[in-house]
Amino acid sequence: MSSLASPRNLALLLLPVLIGVLYGPALQRCVSVLGVFRAPNSTVVENPAHLIYIPDTTHCEDLHYYAPANVLFSACADAAETRHGWFPPLTIFDDPVAASEATGSIRVIGAATHKAQRLTLEDFKGPLIPHGIDVVEDPDADKVPAVYIFVVNHVPNPAYVEWKRSSAHGQTPEPTNKSAPRIDIFHHLLGASSARHVRSVQHPLIATPNDILAVSPREFYVTNDHHYREGAMRIAEDVFAGATWSTTIRVLLEGAHDDDDVRANVALTGLHNNNGLGHGNTSDQVLIGSAVSGTMHLATFAPREGALEVRESIHLDSTIDNPTYFRDPYATPALDRSGYVNAGTSNGYKVVESAKDPAGLDGSMVWVTRPQGTGWDNKLLFQDDGSRIRAASVAVLVAIEPALEAGQRKAWLYVSGFVSKNILAVKIDLV
Ligand SMILES: *[C@@H]1O[C@H](CO)[C@@H](O)[C@H](O)[C@H]1NC(C)=O
Ligand SMILES: *[C@@H]1O[C@H](CO)[C@@H](O)[C@H](O)[C@H]1NC(C)=O
Ligand SMILES: *[C@@H]1O[C@H](CO)[C@@H](O)[C@H](O)[C@H]1NC(C)=O
Repeated sequence: MSSLASPRNLALLLLPVLIGVLYGPALQRCVSVLGVFRAPNSTVVENPAHLIYIPDTTHCEDLHYYAPANVLFSACADAAETRHGWFPPLTIFDDPVAASEATGSIRVIGAATHKAQRLTLEDFKGPLIPHGIDVVEDPDADKVPAVYIFVVNHVPNPAYVEWKRSSAHGQTPEPTNKSAPRIDIFHHLLGASSARHVRSVQHPLIATPNDILAVSPREFYVTNDHHYREGAMRIAEDVFAGATWSTTIRVLLEGAHDDDDVRANVALTGLHNNNGLGHGNTSDQVLIGSAVSGTMHLATFAPREGALEVRESIHLDSTIDNPTYFRDPYATPALDRSGYVNAGTSNGYKVVESAKDPAGLDGSMVWVTRPQGTGWDNKLLFQDDGSRIRAASVAVLVAIEPALEAGQRKAWLYVSGFVSKNILAVKIDLV
């Protein structure tokens, strides 16, 4: 790529377009969400025992709490080199050869132990370059309770790998599709040290997958965070809030084999950069994060089969990513700490460039949102300048029994990011 066509220069070329389209409050909000003038700040944690870096959890983009087993699930890229050389969601396509050998993996983290276990993946031929995940109960599990784990996997297109490998690649045209993303589904018996690969799912509508929301073992939703995979239009899509070309796809699986039918339809479109998905407050509520817009949408399954409908949108003051819902198990009629939890970056405007640098530093902000009067109250739960947790993309709250804390309401807050070295667990006051 010539220096003139570098993403940074293209972004500069686009700036007048951005300013021309956004003005007044819209521009102010954009500048604020992207943190153009924000100095990252760090929450002080006085007791060192209240801040834990969970070992062996490198580049884990998503995190889910599975309450019935008191464990968290994540999928991690593991090797730092892979993500900085290949990660299509950040338009990094440099090293498909290394990516074709990438061995990311799935983690189970004990909420009581703060230890991560790497699951052995049975019947699975990699690579695994994980992104968003979801976990659903296996309703047919016999005796041992089990779950299905869905993982967005950014596999490089084999034709692109071959092209890069071949010594003659100067003479033959570059394949147009560099990546061949898919969803991989695993079955895991709770407590076991392995997960068995069930099937891979590919479909032309699954083009730039980001996150998954599983409804059942055979039905899920997946976001495509962008329409364009790279180039100038991709950058326009990032900076221009009117670029509402991202989609959420609903997928139905007919069987358990790779060749069995996959039915897919567009469930929702018209959002800017729809990104993370999460289960909400009620069984029919779906959380959708518009990352660059810093907006969490509360959606429900629409009367039209397979569609989603946005009911309400909540604006936060940073970029966000994968929304989660915290159900307070110790809620009383007088005090309920349940709420929506969002994690994002303090300086989103530079994260795509910065993420390419293994030594880069990107600040993080974590929010909790609760109802207040007829609206919503957003509270900053935790923030960091990037030295403890870089570019947070997800945060999950797990409450601590009040009796263990002299009656006080506390929780462990787990925070992770797509280029963070470790998952962070920090004990906080549930205020
Ligand atoms: C950082 O946060 C602390 C505590 O919230 C606040 O007192 C301080 O002013 C902040 N610093 C900056 C530079 O914003
Ligand atoms: C290549 O990507 C385009 C969209 O980006 C898609 O429509 C097409 O099916 C892909 N082709 C192959 C062979 O994967
Ligand atoms: C969750 O839903 C219930 C019932 O609709 C409502 O009373 C409660 O305020 C909601 N909680 C949050 C955090 O939105």
